Amino acid sequence: MSLTGVRIAGVGHYAPERVVTNEDFAGWLDTSDEWIVSRTGMKRRHWVAPGEATSDLAVAAGRKALAHAGLDASDIDCFIVATVTPDYSFPATGCIVASRLGGVDKPGFDINIACSGFIYGLTTASALIRGGVYKRILLIGAETLTSITNYEDRGSAILFGDGAGAVVLEASEKDSFLSSELGSDGSRPELLFVEAGGSRNPIDAEKLAERKNFLSMQGREVFKFAVTKMIAATDVALQKANLTRDDLNLLIPHQANKRIVDAAAKYLNMGPDRVVINIHEYGNTSAASIPIALSEAVAAGRVHDDDVIVFVAFGGGLSWGAVTWRWSA
Ligand SMILES: CC(C)(COP(=O)(O)OP(=O)(O)OC[C@H]1O[C@@H](n2cnc3c(N)ncnc32)[C@H](O)[C@@H]1OP(=O)(O)O)[C@@H](O)C(=O)NCCC(=O)NCCS
Repeated sequence: MSLTGVRIAGVGHYAPERVVTNEDFAGWLDTSDEWIVSRTGMKRRHWVAPGEATSDLAVAAGRKALAHAGLDASDIDCFIVATVTPDYSFPATGCIVASRLGGVDKPGFDINIACSGFIYGLTTASALIRGGVYKRILLIGAETLTSITNYEDRGSAILFGDGAGAVVLEASEKDSFLSSELGSDGSRPELLFVEAGGSRNPIDAEKLAERKNFLSMQGREVFKFAVTKMIAATDVALQKANLTRDDLNLLIPHQANKRIVDAAAKYLNMGPDRVVINIHEYGNTSAASIPIALSEAVAAGRVHDDDVIVFVAFGGGLSWGAVTWRWSA
């Protein structure tokens, strides 16, 4: 038996207990439940407790995925965390998570490509397994976006939440990985970024006072880019897999805005039964959103053996990507 393919052997997710509703925001921002629901589809999001960090969420989700796969951390060869909100700027959260789960001396690293993180991570991890470098990888998308959200900016504050989703990938006879389409355009970082705190603009008192250490975004520009790229990446990924939209059983998109997902799904001719949406519960959790949605879809019995799934995302970079995946139970 040659194990030259890859499959997902287990999934899991974790969201912090504290729930913040749209009404809560209306307590300090000039906004309303009606505006937020109609413009984004969001109703609730989960926020970390004081002292809770990204590795805490990642470890909780990772444990669930391991349990679902019937495996132990010692069975894992490599730990990858997709995040833009690491515990520290270094060391990598992947190292911290590997140690805390019990992956003694195993490699751990992070992928920093914002909301596209899970797609880039799935592509990387699949290549490492299909190439024979590793047999099992724990891939986790985990974010504490509340640590970089500007709560004085009503245009972005309402969008983000905290959470983590994890998948155990393992070498397999049947190959689930059918194709990947990745892209980026770094010519205008200011469309969606944290301006200060890196080497371009080290943090100082003035930048702190101007809240430049928080996320800022040009929402309308990002919206237009998101719809276009979601559709294009999905189509190209399907073409690369020699499939068409009709072959697609389930679309699991990044959960940034329900209107973005609805517009893309409409163009792709995908009815609600073929699209996973949980944005009302979590808001945008960046790299965590797709693995959380997958984990919930599996738990709800929406994913079946042999189903063709497209995972698709876009985000800071700007970046985008889609992976076509044939589910293997
Ligand atoms: C942010 C977003 C929800 C804003 O929705 P929109 O329909 O584009 O709204 P606009 O930015 O055009 O703003 C319309 C009005 O609503 C106001 N507004 C913005 N946020 C508001 C809020 N939370 N509550 C009430 N009003 C708000 C604006 O100030 C603006 O008022 P004005 O017309 O008086 O200037 C939307 O652009 C979006 O989701 N963009 C993509 C963001 C994203 O996905 N980022 C992450 C990518 S991974």
